[in-house]
Amino acid sequence: MDIKTIKTTAKEKFRGSCRVCPECNGVVCAGEMPGMGGVGTGIAFRHNIQALADCRLNLRTVHSVKNPDLSCRILGIDLAFPVIGAPIGGIERNMKGALTEEEYAVCIVSGCRKAGSIGMTGDGQVPLVFDSGMAAVTNEQGWGIPTIKPRNIEKVAEMANKAAAAGCPAFCMDIDAAAFANMISAGQPVGPKTIQELEYIKNHTAIPFIVKGIMTPDDAEACWQAGVDAIVVSNHGGRSLDHTPGTAEVLPYIAEAVKGKMTVLVDGGIRSGGDVLKMLALGADAVLIGRPLSIAAVGGGREGVEFALNKMKNELRTAMLLTGTAQVSDVSVEILW
Ligand SMILES: Cc1cc2nc3c(=O)[nH]c(=O)nc-3n(C[C@H](O)[C@H](O)[C@H](O)COP(=O)(O)O)c2cc1C
Repeated sequence: MDIKTIKTTAKEKFRGSCRVCPECNGVVCAGEMPGMGGVGTGIAFRHNIQALADCRLNLRTVHSVKNPDLSCRILGIDLAFPVIGAPIGGIERNMKGALTEEEYAVCIVSGCRKAGSIGMTGDGQVPLVFDSGMAAVTNEQGWGIPTIKPRNIEKVAEMANKAAAAGCPAFCMDIDAAAFANMISAGQPVGPKTIQELEYIKNHTAIPFIVKGIMTPDDAEACWQAGVDAIVVSNHGGRSLDHTPGTAEVLPYIAEAVKGKMTVLVDGGIRSGGDVLKMLALGADAVLIGRPLSIAAVGGGREGVEFALNKMKNELRTAMLLTGTAQVSDVSVEILW
């Protein structure tokens, strides 16, 4: 298996819903929702890419780091490296049926597990989306993190408890889907949550609670006050609100507010092991990867996902050697130029 074959196969199977560009940067697919693009002008997606490109690494080779340690423990979950498969749902709508919802979830959950990572699964306007994720995770003895849309709090708790019963180590709610029109038009109400509502969900569930889609220090603080265990700094890959900044721009401010008090994850535009290292230096404990794993799943199935993750793992190891970083759990901001 090689990345060129994965991309060529993926391009055919996507049938135009993703052009599998040389750089996955949101330019060609701007505004394509349903599809793989960012919402509206698509600039929030492009800001994610630009913010990471603007962040540069210091090449340092006079040091004693010969064998960097990539392993980490996130919310009690042991990972071979600090990378998690992002939740992606609505495959039939967004990827022109390149895979079924069930097939996609299996590729992500099982491919991530094989690479020493963990995959997250999504939720959508039809029960098939969440159920496919749950089936894939159950098949892997609970090794996955189901994500639930910001539905009413009783419903979120009920769905989260299904994840707990399947043996999942955590569940997630993508709070930035609070105004998703496709959910509302399908009679699946979603909306913003108060601190008290977040507290309700936390108090009615037994496994760690991750809130995904946090873009300001105030929202991060509010999650911490509610007892949330982890946040994902994310703008949903630029698919929620047009004109948001890139996640690498806001991450340092959010990390300053809550790092050490709760786990800080981030996603958006991460395309290489070097990008992973940049996000760790900016304050993240681990990162999520979205579209690159969609391309890998469509082009190479679960082996494609495993391949893409292992490639990123090797790139991360190289970047650590070339910046003098011994451990992913202790990345210095000094490695940034
Ligand atoms: C087609 C598509 C569907 C998505 N579905 C979900 C979802 O169901 N739940 C969720 O939390 N995020 C969803 N996301 C957002 C991703 O989890 C992630 O935040 C984003 O893709 C990260 O950016 P990247 O693709 O540049 O890596 C989706 C993204 C795409 C492109």
